[in-house]
Amino acid sequence: MAELGPGDSLGIGLAAILSGTERCLALDAVPYANSSLNLQIFEELIALFRDRAPIPDDAEFPLVQPALSLYAFPADVLTSARLEAALNPKRLERIRTCITSPATTARADAPLCYIAPWEPGTIRDASVDLVLSQTVLEYPGDLAGIYAEMCRWLKTGGVMSHEIDFKSLGMTTEWNGHWSCSDVVWRLAAGRRRHRINREPHSTHIALIEKMGCRIVRDERTIRPSAITRAQLAPRFRHLTDEDLVTSSALIQAVKQG
Ligand SMILES: C[S@@+](CC[C@H](N)C(=O)[O-])C[C@H]1O[C@@H](n2cnc3c(N)ncnc32)[C@H](O)[C@@H]1O
Repeated sequence: MAELGPGDSLGIGLAAILSGTERCLALDAVPYANSSLNLQIFEELIALFRDRAPIPDDAEFPLVQPALSLYAFPADVLTSARLEAALNPKRLERIRTCITSPATTARADAPLCYIAPWEPGTIRDASVDLVLSQTVLEYPGDLAGIYAEMCRWLKTGGVMSHEIDFKSLGMTTEWNGHWSCSDVVWRLAAGRRRHRINREPHSTHIALIEKMGCRIVRDERTIRPSAITRAQLAPRFRHLTDEDLVTSSALIQAVKQG
């Protein structure tokens, strides 16, 4: 599996490895990962997997969206046989070594590769079963290029899963006030920020994913009343659909077609 933009925690990739995934490729624009934090997370995850702990629910993480229909440990998928192999002490020791000093190229034969900054071409064609990102795709300027790259990595039948935040992330008073700013005002507001959001709405992501030959299988939108009127939209955003205007985040999952 590949995770785009893991930030400081490689927790998702480590959980995938503990679920039996052979290799996790973590690619970030900036090297934020922290080895000692990730070693600690890894030990905590091992304990949760060994205990077959339930998935934390909305009592523990009330802000996590979307809610799941079931929070029980997925014992039908993570069977005893699968867990026994995944939690084999020798395998765990190899992964600990990798967390301390991860491979920095996708071509290395290592369970964990951390490449930051990464560049297009880093990952081989059709070599990945799952591409995942969590609050990352609101940042890249070249969104079409990033989607083309991620689709290229996927095998036919492979899955991409992206949680995307469409809010202005505190840059404007209204949650969707960024769609009312002209490009000039936006450039001034963004200043020298290291990560600038691309302001692309939900419909842009859906159109790009479909254009790259993937079929959307899940599109779970979080709805929030628009804080601006259509008349306030900057010219560049007049094309936003009524759905875009009220979509503050979405979990989009798609399957690569043959
Ligand atoms: C808001 S953080 C999210 C971190 C993590 N996924 C999480 O959910 O906590 C955004 C992350 O996306 C990364 N990022 C932004 N643009 C990126 C790009 N083009 N390629 C890879 N990572 C990117 C940033 O470096 C940062 O680690």
